Amino acid sequence: MFWKLITYTELYTPVPPYKSTYAIGVAEDEKGNRVIVRIDRKYFGRLRTGILGEVSEEWTVFGKIRKFTPVGLEEPVKVALVTGGARGIGAAIALELARAGYSIAIADLSYDQEAEKTLNSLRSTGTNAIFVAMDVSNRESVERGVKEVVDKLGRLNVLVNNAGITRDSYLQRMNPEDWEAVIKVNLTGAFHCSKASVPYMIRSGGGVIVNISSIVGILGNIGQANYAASKAGLIGLTYTLAKELAPYGIRVVAVAPGFVKTRMALAVPKSILRDYIRRSPIARLIEPEEVAKLVRHIVENEALNGIVIPIDLGLGIGSPKA
Ligand SMILES: NC(=O)c1ccc[n+]([C@@H]2O[C@H](COP(=O)([O-])OP(=O)(O)OC[C@H]3O[C@@H](n4cnc5c(N)ncnc54)[C@H](O)[C@@H]3O)[C@@H](O)[C@H]2O)c1
Repeated sequence: MFWKLITYTELYTPVPPYKSTYAIGVAEDEKGNRVIVRIDRKYFGRLRTGILGEVSEEWTVFGKIRKFTPVGLEEPVKVALVTGGARGIGAAIALELARAGYSIAIADLSYDQEAEKTLNSLRSTGTNAIFVAMDVSNRESVERGVKEVVDKLGRLNVLVNNAGITRDSYLQRMNPEDWEAVIKVNLTGAFHCSKASVPYMIRSGGGVIVNISSIVGILGNIGQANYAASKAGLIGLTYTLAKELAPYGIRVVAVAPGFVKTRMALAVPKSILRDYIRRSPIARLIEPEEVAKLVRHIVENEALNGIVIPIDLGLGIGSPKA
């Protein structure tokens, strides 16, 4: 027997003691009997009065409650936003998530040949993909860009904070501008993007934020005080947001890659790269696709939350610090 949803409201603030958001409504059977029901947040944005569903009973800390499960509601395609997605690791992540069935927005500073190439490969998988111009270090630009993603693709389920820069030099030679530029893009950028995305993610029924940190944020690295500090900061941001956002169904995880074969790593002086490879138990660079596969796993495995996953060929255990 199906029940009709007569009225409902989506609760965007977690209700104690559930530590969770959900919708609450009234359902009516064919005889006109009405009951109060709870509805899972994964249906946020798709509920309508008059839709049909099944009512079942479930035990919770409150005692027994009635649960309404809509029938025949189509699951919309999920949407992922990858910052710095025009090239390198970001482009590989975007492609992997497209293969996983996500609609994709790549956000980057400007639409250039690399962005066009990435967009073409994304579209060749059959996915809906857009480019959004965004400077993650600028709050207005981020707010405008995130809104554009939701306006064009309908919702937001995954945010990958991947945009990043380096301005390497030893502390004694590092000027404050280089310190600030790196913190502003790598750390403050992730703050702006997370803050702008979370309200949309809540209204999309929850989601995942993946922060692209670095093994350097855990081990430190000579000549990279600004970069290492920004990547360590991302780890603190990950732990904190994982605690804060769990009640909204949003998981937050960081990955900490070693040297990945992209323009960023290849710009590092050869002697430093050689030293890195020498210290690494597996002596090679990491492929962007290997990081992308890990990000896809994080997005799909709902038990992962509030952790930093190194992907470093064992550099961490090979380091003199370990
Ligand atoms: N390559 C590595 O060895 C390595 C290792 C660990 C972590 N990471 C991290 O992975 C991420 C991606 O790095 P990559 O190796 O692909 O580098 P990359 O330089 O190839 O790509 C970085 C992308 O970010 C974009 N970007 C830079 N500043 C931006 C801003 N203000 N707003 C929007 N986009 C911006 C760039 O235009 C570029 O498309 C970075 O956060 C980096 O710190 C890289």
